[in-house]
Amino acid sequence: MGLKITDTTLRDGHQSLWATRMRTKDMLPILEKLDAVGYHSLEVWGGATFDVCMRYLNEDPWERLRTLKKYIKRTPLQMLLRGQSLVGYQHYPDDVVEAFINKMVENGIDIIRIFDALNDLRNFEAPMRVASRTGAHIQAAVVYTISPVHTTEHYVETAVSLAQMGAHSICIKDMAGLLTPYKAYELVKLIKERVGLPVQLHSHYIGGLALGAYLKAAEAGVDVVDTASVPLAFGSSQPPVETVVRALQGTPYDTGLDLHLLFEIAAYFEDLRKSLGYERGVTRINDMRVFEHQVPGGMISNLVTQLEEQKALHRLPEVLEEIPRVRAELGYPPLVTPTSQIVGTQAVLNVLTGERYKLIPGEVRAYVEGHYGRPPAPVDPEVARKILGDKKPITCRPADLLEPKMDKIREEIKDLARLEEDFISYALFPQVARKYFENRNRSADPAVPVNGNQGPKAGRKEDGSMNLQEIKELIKLIDQTDIAELSLESAGVRVAIRKAGAQGIIPAPEKEAPPVPVQAREAAAPPAPEREKNVDISGLTVIRSPMVGTFYRAPAPDAPPFVQVGDQVTKGQILCIIEAMKLMNEIESEVSGEIVDILVENGQPVEYGQELFLIREK
Ligand code: CO
Repeated sequence: MGLKITDTTLRDGHQSLWATRMRTKDMLPILEKLDAVGYHSLEVWGGATFDVCMRYLNEDPWERLRTLKKYIKRTPLQMLLRGQSLVGYQHYPDDVVEAFINKMVENGIDIIRIFDALNDLRNFEAPMRVASRTGAHIQAAVVYTISPVHTTEHYVETAVSLAQMGAHSICIKDMAGLLTPYKAYELVKLIKERVGLPVQLHSHYIGGLALGAYLKAAEAGVDVVDTASVPLAFGSSQPPVETVVRALQGTPYDTGLDLHLLFEIAAYFEDLRKSLGYERGVTRINDMRVFEHQVPGGMISNLVTQLEEQKALHRLPEVLEEIPRVRAELGYPPLVTPTSQIVGTQAVLNVLTGERYKLIPGEVRAYVEGHYGRPPAPVDPEVARKILGDKKPITCRPADLLEPKMDKIREEIKDLARLEEDFISYALFPQVARKYFENRNRSADPAVPVNGNQGPKAGRKEDGSMNLQEIKELIKLIDQTDIAELSLESAGVRVAIRKAGAQGIIPAPEKEAPPVPVQAREAAAPPAPEREKNVDISGLTVIRSPMVGTFYRAPAPDAPPFVQVGDQVTKGQILCIIEAMKLMNEIESEVSGEIVDILVENGQPVEYGQELFLIREK
């Protein structure tokens, strides 16, 4: 029996290389051929695809799944589930987990790959219990990383426990391309012997170890490996299927897949890649430095984006040195979503504020409190004290503390939701889903002269000025022509668009807006009045934004603001939240006194150093 292959092109492939931006319509023409290859499974859903569908592509992820199921009749469909975080970045209550898993299986998922960033077994409990009732195949993944506490025995024991909990197969998930060929051999062999379940290996090409790891894993008896079609392989994606198939021909591990058909599929994706303007998967030297400091390449590109936003790109080397320190202090979490953001952002803040753990994002606090699960090693006591004070971390399963919320959600979004799936989308990403539903309803309203959501008139604002969607459409249009520069005026707002090559036009994965509309936003918003001229600032303390981000006056949209003008505050009291780098950063008062003025509107973007509050010191 030869080696079996899972194709990840439609999920991890474009998530790794194209910022997850492949649309359903781009997948449709090739589905029949993909289905004919004889893959073990096609990974087509989960991970970042759910969020990106609604947030950036104006697509319904559930609709995508149903469409794929309609055309892929023979090959099982696989998805990636982030344990209790499902396809999001935080833990969800058990009733949301249940609703989500039931619906995705109903809509066509056959194989569920479940992982937890911390390999904390308690975070598998609810997803595995629900999944086992659906009849889907449960593949439980062990996240691979390198640290003093991530020993071979840790992986084998985790795999044994996951099998006892009801896994049907085990995946070794090497998201950072760190697994060496000989380590792969050792792990596969041991897990096969001790667990007795099929084993699948998921690796990323990065520095090239993955190909060697797959071959040695095959020798050790691995059952399935993950690959992508060559135009979406290499670099931070999976190894190419073509190479793995060729390497094993004529051996006991021969995959039996037809290279000619695989190259026909590759030709399709290569044309698509060119038309969308994405780069081929290449390995930058920075990406390979994962061997040195274990920071995955994808995380480095996020850090670069974050530091660019903070106008501090020159401090990347310091941040790269800070990351392993923070990671050790936080108990060596593997650097995978969401712990990669947690460690990365804390490291960025430690460097930029000039004082370690001066500013602590809510997510870092929650992590140290144990709300993501048990850190692999104890958190450094000094750091824990700095973050928690006298508070003790929780010891129960984190989701035990979460109230059920599906009933509340049904009430909250009943005016916009149409299907059961809509309630679940809203439970996962409330703001994003609401915006998506509103767009959908608007484009469906016959009274509004729009051409789906594609036409340049879609969702025109009341004042006639252009909205983000329209600007995006315009950029796409320009991209397809030879026009290099365009500026136009719309209701007093000047929009200047300059073609800067495909990379500049496609929104970066973690950013809401493509770079160009920033100019439009600047043009649209009159410069903030210079407050110093109006307010006597003598004797006043100015609280400034420590970062670029979005200013929020309250912890949640429906919660009362932290402070009002006239309030007395004490040093260390929370004044507001700045959302930056995907995390909520609580900004504390540096002094005790009275709030004299609040200089930014709720929900507005703020610059580094921008004045937020004026406080008269007591
Ligand atoms: Co992956």
